[in-house]
Amino acid sequence: MGCMVAGYFIFCEIEGVYYLYTLIELKKHDMNIKLLTPSHWTDYELIDSGAFEKLERFGKQVIARPEPQAIWNKSLSDAEWMQRADAYFRKDKQSEERGEWICKPKMPQQWFVNYRFGEMNLRMRLGLTSFKHVGIFPEQAENWDFIYDEVKRVGEGARVLNLFAYTGGASLAAKSAGADVTHVDSVKPVVTWSRENMEASGLDGIRWIVDDALKFVRREVKRGKKYDGIILDPPAYGRGPNGEKWILQENINELISLCGQLLESSHSFLVLNLYSMGLSALLARSVVRQLVGDCSGEQFGELYFTDSFGKALPLGVYYRLWRE
Ligand SMILES: C[S@@+](CC[C@H](N)C(=O)[O-])C[C@H]1O[C@@H](n2cnc3c(N)ncnc32)[C@H](O)[C@@H]1O
Repeated sequence: MGCMVAGYFIFCEIEGVYYLYTLIELKKHDMNIKLLTPSHWTDYELIDSGAFEKLERFGKQVIARPEPQAIWNKSLSDAEWMQRADAYFRKDKQSEERGEWICKPKMPQQWFVNYRFGEMNLRMRLGLTSFKHVGIFPEQAENWDFIYDEVKRVGEGARVLNLFAYTGGASLAAKSAGADVTHVDSVKPVVTWSRENMEASGLDGIRWIVDDALKFVRREVKRGKKYDGIILDPPAYGRGPNGEKWILQENINELISLCGQLLESSHSFLVLNLYSMGLSALLARSVVRQLVGDCSGEQFGELYFTDSFGKALPLGVYYRLWRE
């Protein structure tokens, strides 16, 4: 057997048969899953987790809420959780998702947290919702840093599309780095919330779209639009503003394929985040690599937080690619 490298090509002779490989092809076999946790949060902390709950600090406020992945035991006692938590989410017996917050007298209904990375200085409003969420997914800060760095790499005015964009953490990260951002979400009050976050962060000029993500992307392809960065954080199930059904397993191929058509072939990046329980980072990688195509580099793996007792809580998977 003998091999010879010539530019981007490798010629190999194995038992009399000649093979031609490209270096890009070799990169496809580099299957290193990376576990990532945000390292720049001062306003967020996972204090404890267990018994299908988590105890977290957002700024000065401590809250306790359900966490289906925390299958282990709590490290602190129930009495300590009750003593530390300013607000506790109690599930509604009739509903899987909904519930109510039991608050101590000084607990505000709304408050702010700050997030800093490089020159990015985000300020986001939090609030207690009946779906146990508070308005940010703090593990996403790892993606915000990546998006900020990628926009800086691609350059001022990079066109970035954020789909299923929620309260806008990723949109603000891209805007902070100088991108021209299009933010798409199907829920109007959530888009209004993002706009407040943009203003609180001292930013402006984000393009707000209340629409079904798939419909919007279909139209952008027809219009011949192109983007330098695409960010997607699709739920397992969702609804467009006119009741359009989003079912991840049925619609993901079409969505990613259309995103592949929208993404510039060089100086670009894509981030796919999946937080439905049980979805693998390899699944995210395979679907993007098949439908979006080649890249100069990629990263994929799990996002997590470690609580103050050392228990690591998985919080979804990511796949990122970039093109030089
Ligand atoms: C939980 S969020 C994603 C989290 C967000 N990327 C972040 O980290 O802040 C999912 C979002 O998808 C939106 N959504 C659900 N179905 C949709 C659809 N068909 N089209 C557009 N947005 C949709 C929801 O309104 C919600 O804001």
